[in-house]
Amino acid sequence: MRLLVTSALPYANGDIHLGHLAGAYLPADIYVRYHRLKGNDVIHICGTDEHGVPVTISADKEKKSPQEIVDHYYRSIKEAFTGFGIHFDNFSRTSLQAHHRLAQDFFLRIYEKGYIYEQEIEQYYCQKCKRFLPDRYVVGKCPRCATDGAKGDQCENCGRWLEPFELINPRCLICDEIPQRRGTKHWYFKLSTFQEQLRDWIDSKTDWKEHVLAFVNGWLKEGLQDRPITRDMSWGVPVPLEVAQGKVLYVWFDAPIGYISSTKEWAEQKNDPEKWKPYWCDKDTRIIHFIGKDNIVFHALIWPAMLMAYGDFALPSDIPANQFLTLEGDKLSTSKGHAIWLPDYLKEFDADSLRYALTRNAPEIRDADFTWRDFQAWHNNELADILGNFVNRTLTFIQKYYNGMVPTASSYTEQDNKILQILKAGPSSIGSKIESFEFKNALQDLMKIAQQANRYFDHEEPWVTRRTNPLTCERTMFVCMKIVTTLAVLSEPFLPFTAEKIKRMINYIPQSWDDSGSPQVAASVNPPQILFKKIDDAVIDAQISKLKGSEISIEEFEKVKLKTAKIIEAQAVEGSKTLIRCMVEVGSGKKQIVAGVGKYYKPDELVGKTVVIVENLKPAKIKGVLSQGMLLAAVTDGDIVILTTDRATPSGSAVQ
Ligand code: MF3
Ligand code: ZN
Repeated sequence: MRLLVTSALPYANGDIHLGHLAGAYLPADIYVRYHRLKGNDVIHICGTDEHGVPVTISADKEKKSPQEIVDHYYRSIKEAFTGFGIHFDNFSRTSLQAHHRLAQDFFLRIYEKGYIYEQEIEQYYCQKCKRFLPDRYVVGKCPRCATDGAKGDQCENCGRWLEPFELINPRCLICDEIPQRRGTKHWYFKLSTFQEQLRDWIDSKTDWKEHVLAFVNGWLKEGLQDRPITRDMSWGVPVPLEVAQGKVLYVWFDAPIGYISSTKEWAEQKNDPEKWKPYWCDKDTRIIHFIGKDNIVFHALIWPAMLMAYGDFALPSDIPANQFLTLEGDKLSTSKGHAIWLPDYLKEFDADSLRYALTRNAPEIRDADFTWRDFQAWHNNELADILGNFVNRTLTFIQKYYNGMVPTASSYTEQDNKILQILKAGPSSIGSKIESFEFKNALQDLMKIAQQANRYFDHEEPWVTRRTNPLTCERTMFVCMKIVTTLAVLSEPFLPFTAEKIKRMINYIPQSWDDSGSPQVAASVNPPQILFKKIDDAVIDAQISKLKGSEISIEEFEKVKLKTAKIIEAQAVEGSKTLIRCMVEVGSGKKQIVAGVGKYYKPDELVGKTVVIVENLKPAKIKGVLSQGMLLAAVTDGDIVILTTDRATPSGSAVQ
């Protein structure tokens, strides 16, 4: 079997987060690793999507050139994938000349075939920026949910797809100017022509995921509209027509062509420039596009229509899109900082723990929620206590009592046969689930084997039979070694780093996925190492609070009014060793503030000091005494030091 697997080309305008990983890259990697172990001819193709408004907007915001932005994120994204064991046969970039040429060739061919036409349209133009504003450069109020800040292509609040003209109170994203309508020319792809052909094609895809089909059928039912495929921008693939100066291809036109150009680049790197062809042109190849839910329409309708229009290439066989992942109950949001970025995660945890959590709770059929508590529980109670424990107890036992030499057996008991039977069924039961994109169930099957293995170990009590019946003990440990070997193979698609560690410990003899159900076992093992160290509550608490209070905006910070104040009176609060009641002068006003510094300052020492206070704190009673603000102090282990000003400062000055 020949397979071409692609993962959605990530925009090179930001790092990859958990949602991206769960949506496309992790399932794709599991799928590819499995097929490779099966001995199938499979390649995994990806790269960064480096054009389009998302990139230029990031560049504008960060005051950098688009090229600087994409260079930075290309490297950073690639590194994060490597860190997570997401393996690609090629990870290309759409800014490469070879990609530009192919995208232009694609455009020209379907233009010449009559599937692209030119049309005069009106578009928003910003007089201040002196430019037309492509979709997301226009912001305004959403006509459906009235949220302000909706973008010209979609409202992020209610999800509605928009045209820039539908926005209420439209503004230029860059300068806030009210844009004007102006005439311009754009090139349209005749998507409507492919309505029937797409309908028939989709109807033949009865085994696709239900939510994908439902979504696509919704679009088909509404009737497909022709789509503009050019934009007024300078960053992108120039439209290859004399009359289209200053225009580039719409990013969603050029990006999927990146799958082909990346495959071509791969072939060239292999010194076999024609090698890409069977993957794209041979009807027997299965082409699988792994994507997130927001990419469905492009991959299941527009891209296939482009391929139909072009003519030479095979159509996708399946598009197993995942649903969305939420984080601690809320939508992931880059702008609000509500996300877990892969580079940050990798600084503190192992890749496999997250691969496990995201597969165990994959948004395959419906949206799923990631919580740090689940993550911790699954790592500790499942990876460590079930899988890690079985491998460890087996190898430790063999190390300790057999000096690392693996015992053998010539006959089996009923109990042995039962577990050996389970092993034998493993590759096909897990494999068939992976083949039908049920990664969550496949992982569950794997863990069931590990669970039953622990039960077998408990039941056999080798620590007893070692003394009472050495032959039985040898047999048990031989069976356990078989189990560990099978687990090393079957866990690889999900937990590649763990599988690698196990393999090193057991002197693994290479064998195929199918053979691993009746595995070949090495003669000796190496001293075992712990596979999964437990994760403490404190570590998880820190992650949770990082998410919760992580960042505040300037606006939020500005709500806190900090001022200088002069302490004019101070007295210990009666009956308290820690509280001091201070009268402070703030400009022309006075306030009473109760401060918990009694252990570190005598009231007298405070009088005369100019301090910093939070002026607009809601008044509260502390031990029955009214406090109308708060005094700032540095708190260290065993000391509290009040903040004062570096030079004499009038009271009531703003602190910023
Ligand atoms: N860059 C897009 C996104 O992150 C995905 C592009 S997929 C491709 O949503 F097919 F166009 F390459
Ligand atoms: Zn403007």
